Amino acid sequence: MKALVLAGGRGTRLRPLTHTSAKQLVPVANKPVLYYGLEAIREAGITSVGIIVGDTADEVRRAVGDGARFGLEVTYIPQEEPLGLAHCVLIAREFLGDDPFVMYLGDNFLIGGIAGVVDAFRRSRHDAQILLTRVAEPRFYGVAELGPGGEILGLEEKPEHPRSDLAIVGVYIFSPAVHEAVRAITPSARGELEITDAVTWLIGNGFRVHSHFVDGYWRDTGRLQDMLECNRIVLELIEPDVRGTVDGLSEVTGRVVVERGAVVENSILRGPIVVGADTKIINSYVGPFTSIGAGCVVERAEIDYSMVLDGSSVRGVSRVSHSLIGRNVEVSRATGVPNTHELMVGDHSRIQVGA
Ligand code: TTP
Repeated sequence: MKALVLAGGRGTRLRPLTHTSAKQLVPVANKPVLYYGLEAIREAGITSVGIIVGDTADEVRRAVGDGARFGLEVTYIPQEEPLGLAHCVLIAREFLGDDPFVMYLGDNFLIGGIAGVVDAFRRSRHDAQILLTRVAEPRFYGVAELGPGGEILGLEEKPEHPRSDLAIVGVYIFSPAVHEAVRAITPSARGELEITDAVTWLIGNGFRVHSHFVDGYWRDTGRLQDMLECNRIVLELIEPDVRGTVDGLSEVTGRVVVERGAVVENSILRGPIVVGADTKIINSYVGPFTSIGAGCVVERAEIDYSMVLDGSSVRGVSRVSHSLIGRNVEVSRATGVPNTHELMVGDHSRIQVGA
């Protein structure tokens, strides 16, 4: 069995972060989303992995390398344009050969791994296996409609009027039959070769497609609120570990990780949180579900339920909440009168300021 990991795409929903970097590399609890997927693939006993890369190919290659540190052998497959999930299968034909494979969307996050579903597929005679979970807003996802016996009646990609609340999770398993399907389908109204159309083609042509419910937590991290939620879930599971320096005036409660070289002075850290290497937290409050990257500064500030990526600073501001702050960003208090907000913000950014 092989794996095909999709790490190209446009990432429009996570702009402006995706103007400069890959959304699959946004760190959840200070570790790139993509790494969790690669680890899950390895745990399922798969070592041969093809990674689809697009505009951010260099960054993904730098982050994953030849895959050896994950116990994987990685082959990169460039995709000229994000022409759809089924297009990824089409261009990976040579790499995949006639092996069955797991297709893993590189921005998807699944707690509990995939070893169980991969084993179930290995033992079955199915041609495709899709994973489903109930969601509150199915119109943002691929959606499945099941019959009374659990058989798949139909699949739709981001439907305006969803026929169920069953979202398709971004981990699929296919036999080589899928290659015929991706060659047979045509682009959808949004110009993409849809994997839902390929699976529908398989069903319509008598292939055995099975659906399986995911019991564990799953999120597609394509949107800000999902990213923050994933971060929260992972932080809830971290083991406390303080390797940096925390002075006697500081108060640390709950699950808190302070990485090597970090300095905490006269501050309150209320877990679960993670503070990256060489970061300084001074005269500040860092509240639950926050991850602060490496080489950051938080000074005279209050922050909770947020993600701050490497090299950024937050100074003199309270309170930052529900926020995703990119790399090398400066957030500080404007001084002087009148009391203004002074902004220099990239394209497609979103800012909500208090009154
Ligand atoms: P999506 O999140 O469906 O698409 P996107 O990355 O273009 O994001 P947005 O909707 O915000 O513009 O993609 C799921 C995963 O598959 C993600 O990791 C990107 C990857 N992908 C490719 O590698 N090639 C593609 O052609 C597409 C559509 C996605």
